[in-house]
Amino acid sequence: MCGIVGYIGSQDAYSILIEGLKKLEYRGYDSAGVALVNGSRLEVIKAKGELEQLENKVGAKFPNGSTGIGHTRWATHGAPSDVNAHPHCCCSGDFAVVHNGIIENYRFIREWMEEAGHKFQSETDTEVLAHLIKHFYNGDLLGSVQQALAQVEGSFALVAVARGKNDQMVCARKDSPLIIGLGKNENFVASDVPAILQYTRRIYILEDGEAARVTKDVVEVFSPEGKGVSKEVFHIDWDAVQAEKGGHPHFMIKEIMEQPHALRETMRGRLLEEGRKIDLSELNLTDEEIASTRRVFIVACGTSYHAGLVGKYAMERALRLPVEVDLASEFRYRDPLLDESSLVIVISQSGETADTLAALRLVRGKGVRVLAITNVVGSSVAREADKVLYTWAGPEIAVASTKAYITQLLALYLITLHMGRVRGAMDASALEEGGRAIFRLPEKVENVLGRERELKRFSAYLSRWENAFFIGRNMDFAVALEGALKLKEISYIHAEAYASGELKHGTLALIVEGIPVVALVTQKALQDKSLSNIKEVKARGGYVFCLAQEGMQGLEEELDEVFYLPATLDFLLPVISVVPLQLISYQAAVERGCPVDKPRNLAKSVTVE
Ligand code: G6P
Repeated sequence: MCGIVGYIGSQDAYSILIEGLKKLEYRGYDSAGVALVNGSRLEVIKAKGELEQLENKVGAKFPNGSTGIGHTRWATHGAPSDVNAHPHCCCSGDFAVVHNGIIENYRFIREWMEEAGHKFQSETDTEVLAHLIKHFYNGDLLGSVQQALAQVEGSFALVAVARGKNDQMVCARKDSPLIIGLGKNENFVASDVPAILQYTRRIYILEDGEAARVTKDVVEVFSPEGKGVSKEVFHIDWDAVQAEKGGHPHFMIKEIMEQPHALRETMRGRLLEEGRKIDLSELNLTDEEIASTRRVFIVACGTSYHAGLVGKYAMERALRLPVEVDLASEFRYRDPLLDESSLVIVISQSGETADTLAALRLVRGKGVRVLAITNVVGSSVAREADKVLYTWAGPEIAVASTKAYITQLLALYLITLHMGRVRGAMDASALEEGGRAIFRLPEKVENVLGRERELKRFSAYLSRWENAFFIGRNMDFAVALEGALKLKEISYIHAEAYASGELKHGTLALIVEGIPVVALVTQKALQDKSLSNIKEVKARGGYVFCLAQEGMQGLEEELDEVFYLPATLDFLLPVISVVPLQLISYQAAVERGCPVDKPRNLAKSVTVE
């Protein structure tokens, strides 16, 4: 969603804000703005479009000030425009606010403020905050922000500054992430770590309901009741370089190429003796808890949901335990049938997705255990779940998720093996076979990445179409859904994923001469069935690009193109088969000149419902 940065210190705030916002652009990029406090001046500059537009508007004459706030927006209320961009000010221009989240009762507050004589400029929900702060102000910025927030329903992470108050900024959060970076004679506020990583690795993580007064030397945090809170300093281990492009033209391809490393990091310390032994003691799930589980629910959004679908096939097959997979936005409103024998697994790369977090809270509110798979240490999901299994993919910046997905699959396989052992559903040889095969996955992914060029011909062909299909059965269908999503989100080609057997029930009508169809045939037991479906497509003129497993030779005689994937156990193939799908989406999007890392209308982290 939106990205927030605040700085207070002795340096030129503008450059620090812009650098920080560049690192947060993945959170939204339809407009941006800054506000600088400089004595009796509060200068606000905003521009529609990507951050570059703001920089162009400012030109060479940077606004002065060592206290300032900045914002990059992903529109919810009010179209992207200069006036709807943040920071928002009250009518006197005394206060400026940047905000991430949604003020649900903003219409009511706006009417109230207008009746009190306040004039509004934008269509946003956020602007009410600036007017409320002005309304309650009596010389204490923190107090007026707290009073303003007491009127508000919804979610927020915000930072406020005031004209004439060079010495402080005030921030607060509820249901939207916010961290405070601790420097030397300077401090920072940000929605996410990459914004401040080049300045400090020591942070406070604000909890829901907390507010803070930040000066250049002191950070005071207060509980919702207004009591001082002593915070624990959190150390960030990420290397700043990890959050940069490292010579690649886009974050997405950098992250695709990092997948073998991400897999190795995620299995480190968990898969021992080349896969012969698995250690997930970090989960703190007792054998009793695992043995008494009668049903598993996997809840997530977007790509993480697709990882959950693969997890369902793997767990049901290996554990003979019913697994339901839900989109978090649906799960939370369907009154799920949970009891103490349920285990709920939430998956979230960012750990901040609003719907996933709400689903987690709903489950915990019913007293049911929640295990989280997340990539961000200290994220809301990580802090609120009963147990956490981190994916160690490193920071994922591109909006289209790649290395997080592949490590989420790995995490689900590790959980499956662990539960399989404890429940006695997998015998020693099945466990060893599974563990050893998992251990070798990184080298198989490397093999596919090394053959990237072999995919270029098909990607170029695909890039000339406006529609495409992805088909597969069972796990291949789950991966097909992810392949279609990747293509849609970054190349804007309309892609549909279908269970191969379902095509004939309607969709075959859309198969026209030459239309690209990506067919996954990786599951040996279903090879013949899948091939019959592919022939139905071929017979109607579809151009079939097939992903098959090594050993299924001879397919190229019947199909247009075949890419053979390194062989492994069938149930692990998704880790390998998704890689060419990521690559063809990337190559097709580049061919079409699309902004790969920042597709239109999307955001990396969706912290609103
Ligand atoms: C957004 C991103 C997707 C991501 C989804 C869930 O829509 O653009 O790439 O899969 O959120 O995010 P999460 O952080 O919860 O995995």
